[in-house]
Amino acid sequence: MDVRLVPFTEAALPVVQPWFRHPEVDRRLGGPEWPARELRLLTDKPGGEFRGRRVLRTHSWLVLNAEEVPVAKIGGDVYDCWTRYLGEAPGGPILDGWEAGPAMGVAYVVDPGRWRRGFGTAALRAVIASPVVADVRLFVAGIDADNTASSRCARSAGLVPDDPEPDWEGTIHHILRRPADCSVDEGASLRRPPPVGSQGRPGARATGPSGPGRTSGTRRRTQAGEADT
Ligand SMILES: CC(C)(COP(=O)(O)OP(=O)(O)OC[C@H]1O[C@@H](n2cnc3c(N)ncnc32)[C@H](O)[C@@H]1OP(=O)(O)O)[C@@H](O)C(=O)NCCC(=O)NCCS
Repeated sequence: MDVRLVPFTEAALPVVQPWFRHPEVDRRLGGPEWPARELRLLTDKPGGEFRGRRVLRTHSWLVLNAEEVPVAKIGGDVYDCWTRYLGEAPGGPILDGWEAGPAMGVAYVVDPGRWRRGFGTAALRAVIASPVVADVRLFVAGIDADNTASSRCARSAGLVPDDPEPDWEGTIHHILRRPADCSVDEGASLRRPPPVGSQGRPGARATGPSGPGRTSGTRRRTQAGEADT
């Protein structure tokens, strides 16, 4: 499917915000304020730390179909590493495992009027194939255990559950790991399939650590500096 990524800007808010009024989008990501807040954070609070990971940069794209019509929105933070987040202690986040990055946490929404036409999968594939994230070794989607649509969408794009059991927040992390030397073309698929297993440094969990991206998962998952309850 032919889709194109363009930067998500304030000009696209009136197009995208109505999508977030759909109860399912509201439930999974948040209401219409969600994309507006994301734009504010992109400019006001770039970088920082989130759940033990350093935010290297953030991407946010509008996804256009072959007719150049916006059909989806996708984006997320690129972190220096991936690590499993187990909660907070007085001294800071409790972390388990470590895996070399860069690692990108992705969150996505498709125009509810266009669901089940392949746009979600196409959007994810376009991100993975984009030269802008050619350095990213892991793509992670933190998906609510009961979000079948998102899980199937992620799987169709090559992200597989890291652990079939939901974590303490009810999230199943779907991850795609790719070799460092895997070349990508804009609009093209990966030339090589992702390998199975961890590429982390010795001692990393065999199944890979996990943690929700700041912009992924349910509405409680928000960008750095905002409530992360
Ligand atoms: C999740 C979402 C992005 C999927 O977008 P989409 O464009 O409908 O997905 P696709 O058409 O690419 O479908 C991908 C796969 O999921 C399946 N699927 C999609 N919706 C489904 C549903 N409601 N129930 C079961 N399967 C579903 C499709 O059949 C397809 O399966 P296949 O590849 O095995 O044939 C869309 O439902 C959405 O925006 N949901 C609300 C926001 C959200 O949950 N975002 C993810 C947060 S982690």
